[in-house]
Amino acid sequence: MLDLLIHNATLPDGRENMSVAVQDGRIVDIQSQLVAEAADRVDAGGMLLSPPFCDPHFHMDATLSYGLPRVNQSGTLLEGIALWGELKPHLTEEALVSRALQYCDWAVAKGLLAIRSHVDTSDPSLLPVRAMLEVKRRVAPYLDLQLVAFPQDGVLRAPGGLDNLTQALDLGVDVVGGIPHFERTMAEGAQSVRLLCELAAERGLPVDMHCDESDDPLSRHIETLAFEARRLGMQGRVNGSHLTSMHSMDNYYVSKLIPLIAEAQVSAVANPLINITLQGRHDSYPKRRGMTRVPELMAAGITVAFGHDCVMDPWYSMGSGDMLEVASMGMHVAQMTSQAGMLACFEAVTTQAAKVMQLDGYGLRRGARASMVLLQARNPVEAMRLRATRLKVWKDGQLLAESAPSSTLLHLPGRSGTTSFMRD
Ligand code: FE2
Repeated sequence: MLDLLIHNATLPDGRENMSVAVQDGRIVDIQSQLVAEAADRVDAGGMLLSPPFCDPHFHMDATLSYGLPRVNQSGTLLEGIALWGELKPHLTEEALVSRALQYCDWAVAKGLLAIRSHVDTSDPSLLPVRAMLEVKRRVAPYLDLQLVAFPQDGVLRAPGGLDNLTQALDLGVDVVGGIPHFERTMAEGAQSVRLLCELAAERGLPVDMHCDESDDPLSRHIETLAFEARRLGMQGRVNGSHLTSMHSMDNYYVSKLIPLIAEAQVSAVANPLINITLQGRHDSYPKRRGMTRVPELMAAGITVAFGHDCVMDPWYSMGSGDMLEVASMGMHVAQMTSQAGMLACFEAVTTQAAKVMQLDGYGLRRGARASMVLLQARNPVEAMRLRATRLKVWKDGQLLAESAPSSTLLHLPGRSGTTSFMRD
């Protein structure tokens, strides 16, 4: 007998009336209208069954700290960095763990079951690193948390930057980060990329750098990152996060750059909510959007995903762990409103994000881990439009969260009724 049989589901690829059979935490069958005995049966009612959302770029050590010790009055990147500096002396491991665990509850409720979080390694105490390792241990039964050693103040620019980052890796952080555009010079930025990639290659770790998070078209560290990925044989294990300077670069240079990124199999993560709010702040009009060239990177066969980056922290007051909001903003900013473009935006927070994170056993297919989310929507486009309610969330076949279907009761003159914002 099966553990779980979900029937009458629509899949993201458009197949309808599908049944998904689960045994021992794995998907053992997916086919149309499967008949089988199961301990638990769920009628999906024609709604969309998706693999879970994945966030390939987040800052779990800063999340939910909004207002501490004060709010960001200007809402800018620079005031956010200053504010994080003011907050650091007041951080405690207990508070960091408690805020992160609360965010993980929100994430699970939103069907977000895998998060790659950068963790600041600048302080020699490595307090955020120890706290996030503890969070990773505590959430492991229900959420895949990957940690990136992130030298927020610059691995070369800050005293002891490399030692602190190396120690974070020794403690068990999974991925090597970096911030080359924040180093003192272009040359030091390039040097930081080289030494961090060499460090990752020596240890057999992936690389994920904040790279060119700037409106300066001459910020070209992604070129060095692609070069080093290829030189060190790290194809498929290196990601460039943000890459916002590419928005402002000359088209001729980009026509050379994108094939280099593709050749090195370096993936890209855009952070639409944050890029659209923090970039272009020195512009008058026209104002640049400041998000990287998402459709052009995708057209070159490069893996591109979207991250949330921030939720209620010194840089961003908004957010709730809803990757459908991220996908929707990405779609708007990149003008990806074609049918294929909208689907690609949904995939940027599901399958493509899982690819960036190199997750094992991800997806709706036989043999994959039975991690799924049932959405109150009939297709991915409707899911993004409605930020659809997560009716049920499973991880490895275990039900983790349930929400009642969203419906509004109407009391109109002469009649009453309900609406769920779905056309009949
Ligand atoms: Fe970030």
